[in-house]
Amino acid sequence: MVFLNGKFLPIEEARVPVLDRGFIFGDGVYELVPVYSRVPFRLEEHLTRLERSLAGTRIRNPYSRAEWREIIVQLSAKQPYEDQGVYFQVTRGVARRDHAFPQDATPTVFIMSNPLVNPPRELVERGAEAVSAQDNRWHRCDIKSISLIGNVLLRQLSADAGAAETILFRDGVLTEAAACNVFVVRGGVIQGSPKSNLILPGITYDVVLELAQAAQIPVEIRDLSETETRAADEIWVTSSSKEVLAIVKLDGKAVGDGRPGPVFRRMHQLYQEFKRTVMRVGRERAAA
Ligand SMILES: Cc1ncc(COP(=O)(O)O)c(C=O)c1O
Repeated sequence: MVFLNGKFLPIEEARVPVLDRGFIFGDGVYELVPVYSRVPFRLEEHLTRLERSLAGTRIRNPYSRAEWREIIVQLSAKQPYEDQGVYFQVTRGVARRDHAFPQDATPTVFIMSNPLVNPPRELVERGAEAVSAQDNRWHRCDIKSISLIGNVLLRQLSADAGAAETILFRDGVLTEAAACNVFVVRGGVIQGSPKSNLILPGITYDVVLELAQAAQIPVEIRDLSETETRAADEIWVTSSSKEVLAIVKLDGKAVGDGRPGPVFRRMHQLYQEFKRTVMRVGRERAAA
């Protein structure tokens, strides 16, 4: 079952007109919320980011917070699996092709849920490989736009190399990865890029910083040079689906000693514990 413009229906029956501006221009925004044991994780934060992306692209938000929440919960209840990735997108709607905004288009809302695929245990324990590339995307990477051609081409570079991610540098400074944020560890300190128009403000990024603060692991948020990044003891990528994943090889060279580091192992454990706690509370609340 998927949700399209107010109706729940089987995906085979979901149809969008070819003049939808999402199809013609990539004129839309999206979110992906992980759902564990049918409880959405950090839903309010994802909805806040959606509202921000809609405001940034001047697309009308067709639903209130409460309506979004209700649709997402209803859709995840209709799936046969417990752990899900709920993808939702809003486009500017259907209109005669013209770059300028149509006067009267109704936004198209599409929501689907797929089984959540987190990195397998073996990859978490062994660590993943990444390649690097110049970040040649637009200057509004803080908007979660469905126009992902830049990210798609960059991610394919790592796919071609059999690697898990592409780590991006712009003018010699670390930004993020093709579909993840990036942290490094140096001398026991977690270092990460500041939020700006050049990176997506990740929900997982925020969770990692909150967990680090609670566990009193030192954090430093500042621009990191490419040289510093390559010399780091640890590199991690974070996202709703990858969670926290250690990168143990960058462009074929070992990161640190080539194994997931101690700060990564601690953070991975904290993240799993946090997830379990949030899910338990969510289930208790749903049952009450
Ligand atoms: C470019 C980019 N950066 C970072 C992220 C991580 O964001 P989140 O932690 O909210 O999933 C994503 C997730 O899709 C992304 O596409």
